[in-house]
Amino acid sequence: MTQSIQHLKETMACFGTGVTIITAHHAGHDFGMTCNSFNTVSLEPALVLWSLRQASGNRAHFEAAGGYTVNILSHAQQPLAMRFTKGSHEERFAGLELARLPTGRPQIVGCTAWFDCALEQIIPAGDHDIMLGRVLSFGVNADANAEPLIYARRQFGRLVV
Ligand SMILES: Cc1cc2nc3c(=O)[nH]c(=O)nc-3n(C[C@H](O)[C@H](O)[C@H](O)COP(=O)(O)O)c2cc1C
Repeated sequence: MTQSIQHLKETMACFGTGVTIITAHHAGHDFGMTCNSFNTVSLEPALVLWSLRQASGNRAHFEAAGGYTVNILSHAQQPLAMRFTKGSHEERFAGLELARLPTGRPQIVGCTAWFDCALEQIIPAGDHDIMLGRVLSFGVNADANAEPLIYARRQFGRLVV
């Protein structure tokens, strides 16, 4: 490839996505990070994926936890998207209302929808790892105000239909 990485990043950023916070629980601690590489994969069995930067400080936690919860952020939760990119995990979760799932993982109240997953496989992929998950349970927020947060060209926005 002769084109620059910067140009590649700008081109990849044209793909509009939702925004998620992936949460997990390990050794008595909640942890989580903002992620827009989430995608659905299969219905039978129910599989989803997201990709995790291999150099991430969270990498070892996510592997050891053996599972994760995908919290699909609502438009009203936009401030959380940047909060979950930095700082300690205590700072990231401070003051948040959480529902505790049967697996022990935290689900962020007010999100548009969620999937709780067992970690099925970690697939190395360049400078990221693909975290393939088998869906154990899921839910949708019936509140009409929980419209999804949208991210494209490095800007947050809302769905206009
Ligand atoms: C909108 C948005 C989407 C992101 N998506 C991902 C992603 O899919 N995978 C990833 O590894 N990091 C992603 N990040 C960056 C991580 O949230 C960030 O690197 C991480 O929380 C930093 O913590 P760490 O240093 O402990 O890894 C994203 C950041 C933003 C703002």
